Amino acid sequence: MSHAPLELAGWEHIYSGKVRDLYAPASGNERFNSDVVLVVASDRISAFDHILASEIPDKGRILTQLSLWWFDQLEVPNHVVASTVEDGVPAAVAGRAMVCRKLEMFPIECIARGYLTGTGLIEYRAQQTVCSLPLPAGLVDGSRLEPALFTPSAKAEVGEHDENITFDAVVATVGAEAAGSLRSLTLDIYSRAEEVARGRGIILADTKVEFGVDPATGTITLGDEVLTPDSSRFWDAGLWEPGKAQPSFDKQYVRDWLTSAASGWDKASDTAPPALPADVVERTRARYVEAYEKLTGRTFA
Ligand SMILES: Nc1ncnc2c1ncn2[C@@H]1O[C@H](COP(=O)(O)OP(=O)(O)OP(=O)(O)O)[C@@H](O)[C@H]1O
Ligand SMILES: [Mg+2]
Repeated sequence: MSHAPLELAGWEHIYSGKVRDLYAPASGNERFNSDVVLVVASDRISAFDHILASEIPDKGRILTQLSLWWFDQLEVPNHVVASTVEDGVPAAVAGRAMVCRKLEMFPIECIARGYLTGTGLIEYRAQQTVCSLPLPAGLVDGSRLEPALFTPSAKAEVGEHDENITFDAVVATVGAEAAGSLRSLTLDIYSRAEEVARGRGIILADTKVEFGVDPATGTITLGDEVLTPDSSRFWDAGLWEPGKAQPSFDKQYVRDWLTSAASGWDKASDTAPPALPADVVERTRARYVEAYEKLTGRTFA
């Protein structure tokens, strides 16, 4: 498996994150100039902030198609300029790439939580708060949080872990006005998406979105991916049972295998996780496809 950037005529590679590769129009690109980026989702999967040695077939296409579907459902300005070959996506990455407005990204992961689990649950158990917001006593893994909470984290450098921060820390980083906008946009996206997902039998437990400023207009714009199994926890509404870990449509399956005895890997060590067995790859792919199909009502081709 290779993570080397692709040769895409008219585009030059500028950045690789854990999952996505970014390209800028090369000089001589007849269609686009420097106000856009090409965002290409790979089949890479990360867990516990490691890029795994195994890829999940079709994951890049699933994430991109699901994000595009959600961008259409939301009434928030988003970064999408083109998503088809006809409109300028290179044929070599058709289906898993979008031409996007190039944003000045805020260094904040904007998280909304409508249910208690994960790092929120850990903080709650220690001090009955999430991101320092006080919560009622007696909540358990999977409890609903009403209203949903804005629980931002600071974007870490590659290889570091993101860190939960307070709203005041967001204000200190981006200013009071932008911080207020990020909070209300994030909670609006969550409540809209939670309603859509619920109608399809899926609980949206939490989600992470990223925003940037479009330098041409000054508009705070929704970027990156949105409401995918990589950025969100989706639970089967019919199986929801607070008080235990909920079966989910995300990479929980991968995390569970990595932390099981079968993997032989020690999460606390600094070593890279092992490759995934074929059945874990196949089941993870099936979870991603199922999330896409249940949410969109479409068949994944
Ligand atoms: N429209 C946009 N303009 C500029 N940057 C964008 C845009 N949309 C997404 N990005 C950035 O592209 C990158 C996507 O890569 P990916 O999701 O793989 O990164 P990551 O591993 O989650 O985190 P990091 O970027 O910190 O490595 C992110 O850094 C994201 O902030
Ligand atoms: Mg990302």
